[in-house]
Amino acid sequence: MDRIIINGPCRLAGEVEITGAKNAIVAILPAAMLVNGVCRIENVPHISDVENICNIMIAMGAKVSHLDEKTLEVDCSAVRCTEVPYEYARKFRASYYFLGALLGRFKEATVALPGGCHLGARPIDQHIKAFEQLGAQVDIAHGNVHCYADRLAGDSIYLDMVSVGATINAMLAATKAEGLTVIENVAKEPHIVDVANFLNSMGANIRGAGTDVIKVQGVGELRGGSYAVIPDQIEAGTYMAAAAATGGRVLVKNVIPKHMECITNKLEEMGVAVEEYDDSILIDATAPLKKTNVKTMPYPGFPTDMQPQMATVMLRAEGISKINEGVWDSRFKYTEELIRMGAQITVAGKIATIEGGHPLLGAPVRACDLRAGAAMVIAGMMANGTTTIEEISHIRRGYERIVEKFAALGADIRLILD
Ligand code: EPU
Repeated sequence: MDRIIINGPCRLAGEVEITGAKNAIVAILPAAMLVNGVCRIENVPHISDVENICNIMIAMGAKVSHLDEKTLEVDCSAVRCTEVPYEYARKFRASYYFLGALLGRFKEATVALPGGCHLGARPIDQHIKAFEQLGAQVDIAHGNVHCYADRLAGDSIYLDMVSVGATINAMLAATKAEGLTVIENVAKEPHIVDVANFLNSMGANIRGAGTDVIKVQGVGELRGGSYAVIPDQIEAGTYMAAAAATGGRVLVKNVIPKHMECITNKLEEMGVAVEEYDDSILIDATAPLKKTNVKTMPYPGFPTDMQPQMATVMLRAEGISKINEGVWDSRFKYTEELIRMGAQITVAGKIATIEGGHPLLGAPVRACDLRAGAAMVIAGMMANGTTTIEEISHIRRGYERIVEKFAALGADIRLILD
């Protein structure tokens, strides 16, 4: 079985380069389905979610070519297929973006109900509400979501809760609806703005992304163009957390410091020295850490996707820290693995209580999901002895060359492929 082996402990030092944002590219590629022309997309991360999406698009008739390691050229002009089968959709959550994109372009879409990380219930009622509001009929049967419409007409959409996926799907479908769509109570994550910028650079007319209200004026056709994906806020945060948890000193390069503020502020509160430059952040965590409390929330709040990594930082801080998970029903499965390494953590409902300052010991552990996997890697670098991480396909979904990057920062870490 493929695994990552880490001999700890280590103190990370050096520089690391951040890649393009996973949660932006997993929406931008399906969004390219709306475009009748060639999209050149730069700063694309080399992760398995991208490979999976490209395979779906190729199977549906798109031309996808790698111009270089980080640049993709995508031409969906010849696509006529409106269905994403289960064998593809089950591999990752973001397959639901094909619903909005195909519905927008063809007025019809069938996508198997999505897979992805297990974070408790993951309903898509708000996506469906948005499609229906634009005039689509939505049926769920045999594990598929089927949407169709004679015509899509712009309307007002009020999302009952702030949802990244529903916000993006509503934008995708509305891009080619007739007239104006006003979407309220939307998510404001940097990747929402990135998807809107991508669509606008292909000819869409979307205003307000990054605020609470997005206005989409439907357009007849999207032409091709070039676009560069923003740096990955969560990958950057993961390396910042890793530096903090190992008492290291790391320059995290190719970031947008503004996107990192929620994480930067928390680390500073814990006693980490953080220096921001134009497009990099220096983390110096050589001083002892202080306990803290975190509640995860939609952007600009503290991101749920940084919650497991932050737990490892709290393990280094003396005293009792608490995490309140404010987005997902269940995102503490990974704590069971940390406890096997000697961590003192108790979980009650949506709150984890972490007693820091106790040494960790290396152990065999599982990557229960993508961010849990990142936390296991960090814990392995903090622990005395050998940690073996299994089920690492989750990690490959969202982290480019994580083993090489941590090795370059001084970790004794290897990838074993069986
Ligand atoms: N929700 C509903 N109904 C909906 C949609 C969402 O009740 O129709 C609820 C969810 O159950 C959850 C909350 O709303 O409690 C927020 O869910 P959201 O829709 O924002 O999540 P998502 O779009 O499915 C994206 C990221 C996740 C990240 C969340 C929150 C992608 C592909 N995934 O998921 O990323 O945790 O936003 O920021 O963008 C990850 O990268 O590790 C990851 C899981």
